[in-house]
Amino acid sequence: MNQTPPATKHKALRITAMNHVMIKEYIKPGSEVIDATAGNGHDSIFLLKQIDPGGTLYAFDTQAAALENTKNRIENLILNSDTKFHLINDSHGNIHQYIKGPADAAVFNLGYLPGSDHTVTTTWNELYKALNALTLHLIKPGGIISIISYSGHQGGKEEQEKIFHFLEELPANKFSVHITKKWNAIKSSPVLILIECLKNEL
Ligand SMILES: C[S@@+](CC[C@H](N)C(=O)[O-])C[C@H]1O[C@@H](n2cnc3c(N)ncnc32)[C@H](O)[C@@H]1O
Repeated sequence: MNQTPPATKHKALRITAMNHVMIKEYIKPGSEVIDATAGNGHDSIFLLKQIDPGGTLYAFDTQAAALENTKNRIENLILNSDTKFHLINDSHGNIHQYIKGPADAAVFNLGYLPGSDHTVTTTWNELYKALNALTLHLIKPGGIISIISYSGHQGGKEEQEKIFHFLEELPANKFSVHITKKWNAIKSSPVLILIECLKNEL
């Protein structure tokens, strides 16, 4: 009897997973890292697993509920006692008030907190302040800034355009910028931006 094998379907690569694959190349146990948009804590968990033992994570979010979600997730992780994390209920625009640097990586996953009010989103003003501080002196040469930017929500397209403009101004002898997106996406695809710091601005 002829039997057709059951159809199998492989899950498409997600841009958040691609981001983690890339960031892994820049961090290791002992690294100092920044989650600039903690949200539900997925990126913070990923970062902590890479920097343990001995690393430090600074996780920012303007919404207390997001930091609570992140804290709950971190509590389920078994970390070495010398791995430190700081959950900061403030805007990443004030990053320079909390971090002296130099940090190995800063991760931004923009937009709104999934499962929450979609009108509370990241804004270019705050993002600009953070990117400015990071590129000026907070990220070490050999470190990375990653940004996942979405254009589908209210204000997302304008935010993305401003980011692209900022990236065009970054000098090529100090930064190397790569941008990736899913080319055959049905809906608008998020964009993954990687800014390698070769030499900081100062
Ligand atoms: C897409 S979610 C982040 C997802 C998160 N990285 C994760 O792994 O679950 C975006 C988050 O950015 C936060 N946010 C918005 N403006 C911010 C700001 N100026 N500073 C820090 N966080 C901000 C939102 O509250 C929201 O929780």
